[in-house]
Amino acid sequence: MGFAGTGKIWMNGTLADWADAKIHIASHVIHYGSGVFEGARCYDTPKGSAVLRLDAHMKRLLASAKVYRMDSPYSQPQLETAVLDTIRANQFKACYIRPLMYRGYNQLGVNPLSCPVDVAVMVWEWGAYLGPEALEQGVDVCVSSWNRMAPNTFPSLAKASGNYANAQLIRMEADLNGYNEGIALDTAGYVSEGSGENIFVVREGAIYTPPFSASILPGITRDMVMSIAQDLGYRVTEEMLPREILYLADELFFVGTAVEITPIRSVDKIRVGAGRRGPITEAIQRRYSQIINGEVPDTHRWLTYLDRAESAGREPAAVAAKGR
Ligand SMILES: Cc1ncc(COP(=O)(O)O)c(C=O)c1O
Repeated sequence: MGFAGTGKIWMNGTLADWADAKIHIASHVIHYGSGVFEGARCYDTPKGSAVLRLDAHMKRLLASAKVYRMDSPYSQPQLETAVLDTIRANQFKACYIRPLMYRGYNQLGVNPLSCPVDVAVMVWEWGAYLGPEALEQGVDVCVSSWNRMAPNTFPSLAKASGNYANAQLIRMEADLNGYNEGIALDTAGYVSEGSGENIFVVREGAIYTPPFSASILPGITRDMVMSIAQDLGYRVTEEMLPREILYLADELFFVGTAVEITPIRSVDKIRVGAGRRGPITEAIQRRYSQIINGEVPDTHRWLTYLDRAESAGREPAAVAAKGR
């Protein structure tokens, strides 16, 4: 099996054993992709394990649910507590975190409104998403023949399970053609994002990234990178970017929870800049790494330490379900 599993999975307020964490085949989510989810990471720092941007991830989960008219059974603090409890239960120092809110089992018409909204949190150990050398050496990517979703079709601001049908097409095509990842354009032909990461362009000392209107997921790493770049004195502009900027950039890099900051060294076999990690990418990557590993003061308050997270005033997650 490619994925050995972990100890416990949080399901609707109870910690279930991995082997028992099952849902019914008639669950709405299986047939119609009616779920929203998150991907976050917990890092092992000298001051203890800490979840990066826990609040922002749970806020985006609830925002995604809102778009799909899912009434979350749990509040944001309850979801945050659920994540922390799941990591503690599995005794990981560092891990990837996957909260999932989905339409469960009731009926199988397309209209999901009568189906229950269920929540699960999984955690597992997951290293560098595009391979261990990628962070230093960079990756070779292509422009996908698949576009990101057109506006007013699948909302890109929601991190919805169904959106990842599109992401899978992009990723499979890239892999099968020998690339590490694909970059999708939006339906107007402007640069959007990778199958699971946002993108930044460096040209003549300035930094650019596509805006929300280019069918991107509003990435939390993207948000951090914009702050870090500004802290380091760079100007970052959110701008619609033509495809050819990918070939003319001095530096390009992906950002995301899974890939962290990963340099791109070629696009469609055209070398980006000097064909290796550029100096601005490296400076941002270094600061990002120092922050997530707790090596510099957490001035933006991005880390939630596991052993210091307040449970006081919060209901224990296991009994925290609103109205359950
Ligand atoms: C399509 C897509 N874009 C961008 C990102 C990066 O978002 P974040 O930095 O919040 O992980 C992700 C990862 O979740 C993604 O799946």
